[in-house]
Amino acid sequence: MTRTAGVDTALPTVAVIFGGQSSEHSISCLSAASVLSALDPARYEVLAVGIDRDGSWYRVSADPAAWARSTEGLPVVEATSSNVYGKLEFSDLAADVVFPVLHGPFGEDGTIQGALELMGIPYVGSGVLASALTMDKQTTKTMLAASGLPVGSFVSVSDADWVRHREDVLARAGNLRFPVFVKPARAGSSIGITKVGGSSDLAAAIEQARIHDRRVVIEESVEGAREIECGVLASLGHEPPIASICAEISVSAAHEFYDFDAKYLDDSATLTVPAELSHELHRELGELAVRTFMALGADGLARVDFFLDRHGDVVINEVNTMPGFTNISMFPRMWQESGMSYPELIDHLLAVAIDRGSGLR
Ligand SMILES: Nc1ncnc2c1ncn2[C@@H]1O[C@H](COP(=O)(O)OP(=O)(O)O)[C@@H](O)[C@H]1O
Ligand SMILES: [Mg+2]
Repeated sequence: MTRTAGVDTALPTVAVIFGGQSSEHSISCLSAASVLSALDPARYEVLAVGIDRDGSWYRVSADPAAWARSTEGLPVVEATSSNVYGKLEFSDLAADVVFPVLHGPFGEDGTIQGALELMGIPYVGSGVLASALTMDKQTTKTMLAASGLPVGSFVSVSDADWVRHREDVLARAGNLRFPVFVKPARAGSSIGITKVGGSSDLAAAIEQARIHDRRVVIEESVEGAREIECGVLASLGHEPPIASICAEISVSAAHEFYDFDAKYLDDSATLTVPAELSHELHRELGELAVRTFMALGADGLARVDFFLDRHGDVVINEVNTMPGFTNISMFPRMWQESGMSYPELIDHLLAVAIDRGSGLR
């Protein structure tokens, strides 16, 4: 337990870390606002830590209202704003457990997890390896395929491949069934993703993806797919992980796919919780989500996203080890529908983190 001015507070100090260097900075602040408002002050001492877009750490206001969406737009951690206090060297972080509510690169990708391991502080969510692995769409697919789990056909393109063997890349990708999706291997929020109808548009789409990551994945489109998501939670001790009920995302015809605007800017995406699926398929997807979680060595929590094609076949699209976490985000909503309230979900995640301790898991 953390000691404050010589007094043993007896309450564990939870550091909520948010913001960060990824394109999902503001989404992280919104998620953190929900987490901050759900942490029971009778049970936890709360320390709010913001990371600005350049990667500097600050002690910041723990008032959720300071990190809500306002008339000025989306929340941002900025050194000059009134809700941001003194600078914090990350090695000075004093907490019993950390909830890194960070999405995307430099947050969800094993880097912060590595820093917390060095400091010996337990944290919510996956460790270094699973965080890094799932951040990369190519590595995730390779790992899942090796574990006998269903993924679609894809081609991966390294920086050297593209610079030195462009014709080979185009020939390999040309063998896929079009349309295809061209994606940065490590991004999020649909940034840098293009749907390509024919091989003549491939090179431009690869260049577009490479703006965000020099590693690119090209995969066959699952045409007319239903997008189904499932939440997975680790259990205390050695009990197996558990799956939530599944939910479905439908995007209006104005969007070609679930792109950035549909995710955050307009109301064109409909979330159906629970998804309308046969009882049997619903259970199958839950089991598949748990197998995916275990195959990747994930811990704490993950959201597993599926495509269900017209014939009822399923492929795993991607796995998020720190999914959107506002109280109206998909992951908490799926758990709420499964009988676990938002504060209960947070209590469970912190209990699992403390149970795991720090060090290799
Ligand atoms: N292979 C695919 N088939 C059909 N739709 C796809 C495919 N890949 C991506 N999409 C569409 O693009 C969206 C974003 O792709 P995704 O891989 O989930 O990236 P992100 O990590 O940015 O969420 C998906 O939600 C889906 O609407
Ligand atoms: Mg996605």
